[in-house]
Amino acid sequence: MKAVILAGGTGSRLMPLTKLLNKHLLPVGRLPMISYGIDKMKEAGVTDILIVTSRQAAGAFIHYLGSGAESGVSLTYRIQEEAGGIAQALELARPYVGDDEKFIVLLGDNLFEEALTSHVDAFRRQPEGAMVLLKQVPDPERYGVPKFDEAGEIVRIEEKPTQPDNNWCVTGIYGFDRHAFEFIAGIEPSQRGELEITDVNNAYAARGLLRHGKLQGWWTDAGTFESLREASMRLSGDAP
Ligand code: G1P
Repeated sequence: MKAVILAGGTGSRLMPLTKLLNKHLLPVGRLPMISYGIDKMKEAGVTDILIVTSRQAAGAFIHYLGSGAESGVSLTYRIQEEAGGIAQALELARPYVGDDEKFIVLLGDNLFEEALTSHVDAFRRQPEGAMVLLKQVPDPERYGVPKFDEAGEIVRIEEKPTQPDNNWCVTGIYGFDRHAFEFIAGIEPSQRGELEITDVNNAYAARGLLRHGKLQGWWTDAGTFESLREASMRLSGDAP
């Protein structure tokens, strides 16, 4: 199975740091942020990885990571010419993953403790559909929030609800099958002008094809100064 790490975007909530450097190259502990996602994929046995990033940042990613050989992975790069949302970035992965394979998607600013091995294995065994990983958070209104049916399955995800249904959030760790690309082709930009990954997940949920797992240990998206500092504190002991 292959993985796609999304590492584009403008990083607007981390300006002016991100005026100089792509968010996913900012230091977290002793390493640039992108290193942790790559290590998590490798730890789960996923070593073919596509990095999607912006034209401005691509050179720095290639300079830092190269072929991936030093990290024990094989890297491919694609350029997202304009930031248009997570689902739009994901569409660029289509030629890389092909039409028959299932694949893992990781938002490069999602940093976490648990190894993904068991979740990746569960998704390997899932015959079709998508998988999301959930985490309980104190501020669900910042994220995608799942609505559950009586059997505990996700019936719908609401993106950044003002009145969250519960305190679960959909993390930026996903598994998709080939349907993802046909669903992306059918969605419209949201109010923030982006093709939302939540709309792709909702297309799966509407067809009864969305499974979920629960992420153990700590998790943070390092997209704000506060969460970047938290991630740095948690990971500063991890580097050699
Ligand atoms: C994105 C997704 C959201 C998810 C979050 C996890 O939000 O749209 O559903 O909960 O990543 O990091 P964004 O970072 O684009 O605001």
